[in-house]
Amino acid sequence: MHVIVTGAASGIGRGTALRLGRRMKVTVADRDGEGARRVAAEIEAAGGQALGVEVDVTSREAVFAMVESARRAFGPVDALFANAGVNRRNPVDQITEADWDLMMATHVKGVFLCCQAVLGEMVERGQGAIVNTASDFAIMGVAGNAAYTAAKAAIYSLTKSLACEFTPRGIRVNAIGPGPIDTPILASGRSVEQHAATLQKFTNTLPLGRMGQPEDVAIVVDFLLSDRASYISGQILHPNGGQLMW
Ligand SMILES: NC(=O)c1ccc[n+]([C@@H]2O[C@H](COP(=O)([O-])OP(=O)(O)OC[C@H]3O[C@@H](n4cnc5c(N)ncnc54)[C@H](O)[C@@H]3O)[C@@H](O)[C@H]2O)c1
Repeated sequence: MHVIVTGAASGIGRGTALRLGRRMKVTVADRDGEGARRVAAEIEAAGGQALGVEVDVTSREAVFAMVESARRAFGPVDALFANAGVNRRNPVDQITEADWDLMMATHVKGVFLCCQAVLGEMVERGQGAIVNTASDFAIMGVAGNAAYTAAKAAIYSLTKSLACEFTPRGIRVNAIGPGPIDTPILASGRSVEQHAATLQKFTNTLPLGRMGQPEDVAIVVDFLLSDRASYISGQILHPNGGQLMW
């Protein structure tokens, strides 16, 4: 079995790539090529098989080239975890056009391109499983994060439409909506003090009383990509500490 994980140099993607590496060949894809190769080396050191590839998911050419390299290394792609992401937090009146475009390009276009690049072959083989990373915040709405949440909401409707189109052809497509997970994305754009206060606020308010860790998400993705989830498609699962009860 062969899986492609994007955004796999760090955080949730890294944790999931390491977990999947115990049972699948993993193409570890990230804009941070060095980081991707480091994670691939970690998987290999643990006895797995992995390829680290640099990719910018906002570029069609780069995404299709990455999938081609993946196929050359490990054969047909059985599964995709489209997970690469960035965040830019700003009140609406301060969201720049560049930041808006970055949110849409990375999340909406990025997920679309990664899915498009693997779906043709999955249809030919009549099998495949895809998980896309959205966010709880897309459903809840968040002050000061409109561009990110709008982009993540689009991933939900994209996932459902892909599931409608491709489930009858043997491909399951699902999304995850993580709650607060302790990864570098939560620190980006925040001072050390703001970051610490954010972690404290989440810890105090989450029903489960702790921040999520990458493994809390990885276990859900592993399940959704496995045969144990063979009757699940077009769904959103929320590893979120109870933040959103949906
Ligand atoms: N951490 C959270 O609380 C949280 C909550 C909900 C959803 N998410 C989502 O989970 C996903 C993973 O985030 P994370 O928390 O692990 O953050 P992270 O910053 O640790 O990892 C994100 C990874 O995506 C990569 N990336 C960004 N833009 C890219 C691009 N254009 N092409 C290829 N790679 C790119 C980065 O280099 C990085 O390695 C993201 O989509 C994020 O929006 C995170």
